[in-house]
Amino acid sequence: MTDQSPQAQVESITKAFEQDFERFFPFIRDPSALSLEQAEAENRALGELRTRHLGKKSPLAAAKKLIGRIAPEERAGFGQTIQATELRFDSLVHEAERSLSEHIQAQRTARESIDVTLPGRRPRSGHRHPITLLRERLEDVFVALGYAIEDDREIETDFYNFDALNIPLNHPARAWQDTFYTTDGLALRSQTSTVQIHAMQRRGVPVRMIAPGRVFRRDTPDPTHNPMFYQVEGLCVDRGITMAHLKGTVGEFLRRMFGPDTVTRFRPSYFPFTEPSAEFDFSCFKCKGSGCRICKNSGWIELGGSGMVHPNVLRTVGVDPQVYSGFAFGLGIDRMCALMYELDDIRLLFENDVRFLEKFE
Ligand code: FA5
Repeated sequence: MTDQSPQAQVESITKAFEQDFERFFPFIRDPSALSLEQAEAENRALGELRTRHLGKKSPLAAAKKLIGRIAPEERAGFGQTIQATELRFDSLVHEAERSLSEHIQAQRTARESIDVTLPGRRPRSGHRHPITLLRERLEDVFVALGYAIEDDREIETDFYNFDALNIPLNHPARAWQDTFYTTDGLALRSQTSTVQIHAMQRRGVPVRMIAPGRVFRRDTPDPTHNPMFYQVEGLCVDRGITMAHLKGTVGEFLRRMFGPDTVTRFRPSYFPFTEPSAEFDFSCFKCKGSGCRICKNSGWIELGGSGMVHPNVLRTVGVDPQVYSGFAFGLGIDRMCALMYELDDIRLLFENDVRFLEKFE
């Protein structure tokens, strides 16, 4: 550089700047073709260009130092040239920086803004499980008949599982394989009948309640069995309650569920906590009794167990069986659900396959 005249040096400094700056020229007028990322990259490159051409170590800064060595008559002119060059560089770089920064700011604002007129993404709304739907229907029917709804524990002591339900120590229903036991002597309830005891202890008598809930049995899963399933228990205790009330209530419940033509029948049976005991069936809601696939051509659908509350059960909760009597019944919600929706396998209800569950919306 030193062998060039100062004027020639300023010219080559200007040329180098113009070459370097050339690609930024269009951005001064219109940077709109640049994406946000491109504009940010160009802005960084422009900063580096500023350092290269206007910084302390730039050729222009070196040329300024020559001013003192210029012949006095040329010094003022050279000084003005240097100053004008520096001003021009600075204003060009400044213009490009301003234009790019405005563009960057506008792009950022556009990206962060929300267009409230765009259609929203609808959240997929779920719906209730078929067992819940059926349970709510059952509850509605019984609430309309004046029954309260009870909820209770699923882990029980021997007292509620067995003793209070008139299942003495050596009764076969106590066999360990009937339910799931914990290591400290508690067991998962195998029927909602345990709630009869809790309800009478809590509410006293007279009482009218239903208790829907989960129960557990050591049953091998198959199309009609699950180790965990739902039952609903019913209990009515008052003065003068008879088997006729039981039949009337169950009959009315089934008519409200399956239509006014529904016929109910009771078959003698045995449960330790009721005496006498009966299982109840109702006329098939599909074929009205003529026989079809759902009722296995019998015309009847078996639903649950029932009977008059055993005097020993009443005594256990401090109720005098000479004064009070009552009936109880229980049925499996899962099997009822499978029947109503014509499912071949109750296990489908717990596989959580969304394609299956969506059918019940
Ligand atoms: C009982 O559990 C008695 N507690 C019913 C009762 C209550 C009788 C009050 C008298 C007074 P049972 O063991 O039959 O009865 O079961 C009742 C219903 O549960 C059955 O009709 C059936 O629908 C359902 N059930 C039984 N085992 C299973 C299982 N493994 N999977 C699905 N449902 C079942």
